[in-house]
Amino acid sequence: MNVPASGSGGHEAERPEGGEFGVDAPKVLVVMAAVALLLVIICCVLMITNKFGAGMVTMIFAAFFVLCAFSYLYTTLHGKFVWWADLLDDARLKGDEYAVDLGCGRGAVLISLAKRLTTGRVSGIDLWRSRDQSGNDIEAIKHNARVCGVEDRVELNTGNITTLPYYDGQFDLVVSSLAIHNLKAREDRRQAITEAIRVLEPGGKIIIADISHTDEYADWLTEAGMESVTLQDLGVRGWWGGPWMPTSAVTASRPGGRG
Ligand SMILES: C[S@@+](CC[C@H](N)C(=O)[O-])C[C@H]1O[C@@H](n2cnc3c(N)ncnc32)[C@H](O)[C@@H]1O
Repeated sequence: MNVPASGSGGHEAERPEGGEFGVDAPKVLVVMAAVALLLVIICCVLMITNKFGAGMVTMIFAAFFVLCAFSYLYTTLHGKFVWWADLLDDARLKGDEYAVDLGCGRGAVLISLAKRLTTGRVSGIDLWRSRDQSGNDIEAIKHNARVCGVEDRVELNTGNITTLPYYDGQFDLVVSSLAIHNLKAREDRRQAITEAIRVLEPGGKIIIADISHTDEYADWLTEAGMESVTLQDLGVRGWWGGPWMPTSAVTASRPGGRG
């Protein structure tokens, strides 16, 4: 049944109101902020002791790390929600889709997606690792789904994205945000992509946003016979500290289906 999504015809609010989605890889932000603070202290000491030249140089480095920390904070708290809203808009959802979010964490994408569904449902799978997202816990995403009013459309599974507990062709849409790069072994990342394709029904779409290896994902999707494979840089809103750590999105469609 094709029912218009609640968000169709307009842009869904980017960051689901009421939810708390944490900070991605919080240790990276802590290190940036700690380095900036240390440099500010060194700068102050140098200035007080009349070493102005060295103080100015230290101040420039401190400012650099402060900017990196702000860029990181912006992307994790706001930018991520903006580009996911755009990616989901581009997917032109009808509202009746069955979707899955691989490595859903506290639900930033899963809940944005659920809010666009009417009769559809979204499953989320994760190992809930707190080093990858602050406060990461299945209870945290359940709480977010409840306060965002989508708990009736959400199903959660604890598991590894390399071995999905779903049957072949179960979903119309597979999404994954900043999760697959956490698989350090190339064969594990490939297995995650193979699994993503397996659970996608003919005619279904895949959208993956990640900070690295996205060209690999695009190649593997193409090799597996997926259609309309695209790879796009998500721009300044996807910078994790600076342009040396950007986010890219890979999209693809599985051939076949009702068209
Ligand atoms: C940076 S967080 C991103 C979470 C969420 N997708 C988002 O964008 O807010 C990465 C997530 O991937 C999950 N993760 C990492 N490796 C995983 C694996 N092998 N299987 C399932 N989840 C995994 C972590 O627990 C974490 O929730």
